[in-house]
Amino acid sequence: MKTDFKTLKELHEYYAVHNACGLKELATQPVYEITTPSSGILLIGEAPGRNEDLQGRPFVGSAGKFLDELLKSIGFSREEVYVSNVVKYRPPNNREPQEDEKDACRVWLNAELLFVKPRVIVTLGRHALGRFVPDAGITASHGQSFEHPTGIPVFAMYHPAAALYNPNLRDVLKKDFKQLKNFLDNRPKVSKAKQEEIDAILQL
Ligand code: URA
Repeated sequence: MKTDFKTLKELHEYYAVHNACGLKELATQPVYEITTPSSGILLIGEAPGRNEDLQGRPFVGSAGKFLDELLKSIGFSREEVYVSNVVKYRPPNNREPQEDEKDACRVWLNAELLFVKPRVIVTLGRHALGRFVPDAGITASHGQSFEHPTGIPVFAMYHPAAALYNPNLRDVLKKDFKQLKNFLDNRPKVSKAKQEEIDAILQL
C-alpha cells in the first residue's frame, strides 16, 4: 500500500488511478476532500450523489447543508473537519454501493486515515458503520462510540440525508452530535506511541 504522500491531493490523484472500482467508468469524476482538518474529526458518508459527482467534492448538496448545520451546532465549521465517503464515485441513479465497489475503495480510505490521523471516525449511515463495526446495526448504535481494532474510536450517526426524508431524525442527529461533542471533550489526546501503533495496523 502506497502511503508516502506529501499532500492529500497527491494521495487522491494516485488512488484515482490505482483503484479497481467498477463505478469509475460510470461517474463524472472521483469525489474527495483535499484540505487537512484541524479538529481531528473525520466523517465518512456512503457515496457521492449528483451534486458531488458534478463538483468533485463530498457533501455539497442538501445532505451537506444539514451536515454543516449539525457541525455548527457543536462549534465546528466544514473547514475544520475532514469528510470522505466509503466509495469515491457516484453509483448510477444514487443506488447503494455494492460490496465489490466498497472493497475496491478500501485501501484508498485506509490511506486517507493514515494521512489525516483522525482522533475520531464519525460514520454517517449504515454503509460507513458497517465498514468499521461490521456487526452493529445503525438503529441500536447511533449516538454511541465503538473501539475499532486500530485504536481509533468510531462514533455512529444516522446519515444526514435520512433526516431529509424522515424529519424525526433531525432531532436525533442534533442530539447525537451533542453526544459526539461530549465524547471529544472527555477523550484524552492520543500519545505518540499509540499513534505509531494505529499507523502500523492501518498499513497491513
Ligand atoms: N451522501 C453521501 O453519503 N456522501 C456525499 O458525499 C453526499 C451525500
